[in-house]
Amino acid sequence: MKIINGKEIADKIILDIKNEIISKNLNVGLAVILIGDDFASKTYVRMKRKKCLDANINSYLFEYSNSIDEKTIIDKIHALNNDDKIDGILVQLPLPKHISIKTVIEAIDPNKDIDGFHPINVGKVLLGYDDTIFPCTPLGIKILLEKTKIDLTGKHVVIIGRSNLVGKPLFAMLVQNKKKLNATVTICHSYTKDLKQIALSADIIIAAIGKANFITKDFIKKGSIVIDVGINYENQSDGTKKIVGDVDYENVKELCSYITPVPKGVGPMTIAMLLKNSLICHKKNKKYE
Ligand code: GUN
Repeated sequence: MKIINGKEIADKIILDIKNEIISKNLNVGLAVILIGDDFASKTYVRMKRKKCLDANINSYLFEYSNSIDEKTIIDKIHALNNDDKIDGILVQLPLPKHISIKTVIEAIDPNKDIDGFHPINVGKVLLGYDDTIFPCTPLGIKILLEKTKIDLTGKHVVIIGRSNLVGKPLFAMLVQNKKKLNATVTICHSYTKDLKQIALSADIIIAAIGKANFITKDFIKKGSIVIDVGINYENQSDGTKKIVGDVDYENVKELCSYITPVPKGVGPMTIAMLLKNSLICHKKNKKYE
């Protein structure tokens, strides 16, 4: 069994981004919109901004209370679309119920859609275009597999979780008729029958369910590869929170050929891809240099 060290791979990518930004003297700007006081969202935003700082990317935080109205957010996004120092706009999800995620995402200029959530960019991913913005977590997983020299050609990839953020775009990316891809992809979700049987037929399992330790060892074929996308916060008796994945890591790890840990697996790659996308958007949008 080998552990895929996502943190190490991510740190190297971030260093390359930083070196490029410094050597070319680029002024890359990322706007982050955070609404409400969700613990996980605040944590992610803090981590994302810390890595921006490490990579010499300027991040601008716009924080709003839970009760903010939709129009204020849309007006802010329009202003950021027209702001030359901003290359990318990130609206941290989830949003409060009274704000439409569809309206918010569609308001973002597709060329500043750093998360790759805009329908135009999602459509391009589905069509297999290379000149689009890929969503950060699926892109991070694809690069983790590439860097680990895992060829997906003809392999059975079982994705558990059909979210717009991970499962659906990841399916579209891994199924493409491209070198080292061409996977046979099955997406499973809460209504899937015989989930265990399907998982047992996987060469690669990608767990993106959002339930701590959901994937136990009886889901795992010996020698398979396990990618754990889960970031679940478990309350500890001392009042702190511990991060655990969707995979019962301790019991699953002996069965697989490769596994990503939580933390230090997919999570750091998601952030590295955010920085990579910021640089890509900067290059596309550099109207002012
Ligand atoms: N919430 C959970 N993951 C993400 C992400 O990748 N991007 C944004 N904007 N919100 C999230």
